[in-house]
Amino acid sequence: MVTLNDIHKFSVEEGIKEDPRERKKIEEELEKRKENYEEMEGVKKEKFDEDKLENPFDDSKVLYGGDREVKKLAVGIDIEAQDLILVDRLKEKGEDIDAAFAHHPEGRALANLHEVMGLQVDTLEQAGVPVSQAEGIVRPRAEEVKKGVHATNHPRAPRTADLLDIPFMCLHTVCDNHAYQFVEDYMDEKEPETLGDIIDALIEIPEYEWSLEYDMGPEIFAGSSENRAGKIEVLGFTGGTGLKEDMVEKMVESGIDTVLVMHATKKQIEKAKEENINIVSAGHMPSDSLGINLLLDKIQKEFGLEFFELSGFKRVER
Ligand SMILES: [Fe+2]
Ligand SMILES: [Fe+2]
Repeated sequence: MVTLNDIHKFSVEEGIKEDPRERKKIEEELEKRKENYEEMEGVKKEKFDEDKLENPFDDSKVLYGGDREVKKLAVGIDIEAQDLILVDRLKEKGEDIDAAFAHHPEGRALANLHEVMGLQVDTLEQAGVPVSQAEGIVRPRAEEVKKGVHATNHPRAPRTADLLDIPFMCLHTVCDNHAYQFVEDYMDEKEPETLGDIIDALIEIPEYEWSLEYDMGPEIFAGSSENRAGKIEVLGFTGGTGLKEDMVEKMVESGIDTVLVMHATKKQIEKAKEENINIVSAGHMPSDSLGINLLLDKIQKEFGLEFFELSGFKRVER
């Protein structure tokens, strides 16, 4: 019997293997958490999420029904209350769905989204940004994200899963790490000459080809198709959520010519145009689908499950 907890545990381990940080660093972080936990007292200790002691991805959590058996998993990018009701309707119509797997975090996993952002210091450092500068742009942004999600209605989706009795989990950075490593290796291998070549290379990947059906495919946000790509860095694919426009200045200082991102803000695009940095957006749904698919291939191999796609997710097997 395979439970949702088994799938979650396996996925976290795979997420660690694909993480831009060294394993040793992650283990030290978990050790620190254990020490802090020992010192906790009273209600804070009682309410502490013990999964945090084994799982470094605070945005990737089982939210309901972890001990239940899973054979068929509904998989979506955003699974909120309305999508859980959709799953319930599908079940009523005879679809044998046992559990739901969301990519974007819900519940406690969303409340702690900022906790995974530290790994962006490592992706920036690998891109050639001095670590002091990387810390300087990631830490304040993580604080901002923490405050930003604080007011969200976190119990809503988990409680809906509970009411409808649908086992539910979300795996965010666990999947995004897979997409990041894949696209990074892919770009190294393809060595695109121009921004136009980056786009062409991306749409050879099935998820990006599919995204053209919805006009949400790879796009040049700053720069032009004939621009030489120069030094390309994959950024903002993993580590919670995007950074602010101050990252663009660091690109200039670090000799990066083109950033390949999942999505970019208006301010980042304006800044990039001003500084002559190229931004190529790979596209959000296809990039998230790619990361999920790479993980699902491993889950399928390990547990032999079936998947049911919904909510912006496109299943592609490799
Ligand atoms: Fe993602
Ligand atoms: Fe996303």
